Amino acid sequence: MHITIRQLQVFEAVARHASYTRAAKGLHLTQPAVSMQIKQLEGSVGLPLFEQIGKRIFLTQAGEAMLRHAQTIIGHLAAAREEMDDLKGVDSGRLRISVASTVNYFATRLLARFARQHPGVKITLDVTNRETLLQNLERNLPDVVLMGAPPKGLDLQADAFMDNPLIMIAPPDHRFAKRRTIALGNLDTETFVVRESGSGTRIAMERFFNLKAFEPFATIEMTDNEAIKQSVEAGLGLAIVSIHTVELELAAKRLIKLNIKGMPIMRRWYVGHRRGKRLSPTAQAFRQFVIDEGARQAVS
Ligand code: PGA
Repeated sequence: MHITIRQLQVFEAVARHASYTRAAKGLHLTQPAVSMQIKQLEGSVGLPLFEQIGKRIFLTQAGEAMLRHAQTIIGHLAAAREEMDDLKGVDSGRLRISVASTVNYFATRLLARFARQHPGVKITLDVTNRETLLQNLERNLPDVVLMGAPPKGLDLQADAFMDNPLIMIAPPDHRFAKRRTIALGNLDTETFVVRESGSGTRIAMERFFNLKAFEPFATIEMTDNEAIKQSVEAGLGLAIVSIHTVELELAAKRLIKLNIKGMPIMRRWYVGHRRGKRLSPTAQAFRQFVIDEGARQAVS
């Protein structure tokens, strides 16, 4: 059966009006053109679709069945057109975002503001550490990622949007709490509560320790910034964390920042996506929104 959409549209109009003449008018076609389309359709189907009794035309049984299918196909086409039109706008569609767990401290605030501006967008947020996030990117799962500096080898379009200073935190009663400057070497009897390997924070910390030829006395590993903060508060040890994770605790003086020489470790947050990826208008809008928000915060 070689049936065209146009034939189905003409057929549906004739069936709806029960008239070739009225269908022709509605479609801005001549009556013979309409008859020709119906004849061709009947030819492809191999059955008559209309029968004429007196002056009126009626659908045959095959015509009734064909009409049901024609309506479904025309309905689907209209829905497809609507959905495509929606995707051309930034206020609809889906946005899949992956963020490094440390980013989550401000990512949710960013998302809340973006969602208020674009209430029709369906957002999914995946929070994971740096290593898993890179694996997700390889598998083309997220539209956009927020992370620390991406590795060189990956084919990413990545733009820095905000500073990410890493600081050393301690409980308020730490013996060095009041010291103006502390050499890392003075902390060689301390236990450090550290992130799991695969974490960007952990990589940056190890790089800093190597640079200073420093070896912590003991380490306790945790996969969660919250657990690390609570452990430090409880006196389990010291930790190096992004300043974004401890803003509230520093303000409430539940934790303090130690003034270590060479710190903070200055890192930056990046918004990125696979270079070949065709970002939807929604994803492009989010990417730009993150860059603009970063610039706004740097100024304020
Ligand atoms: P993470 O943060 O330590 O939560 O993986 C990402 C990063 O700093 O790159």
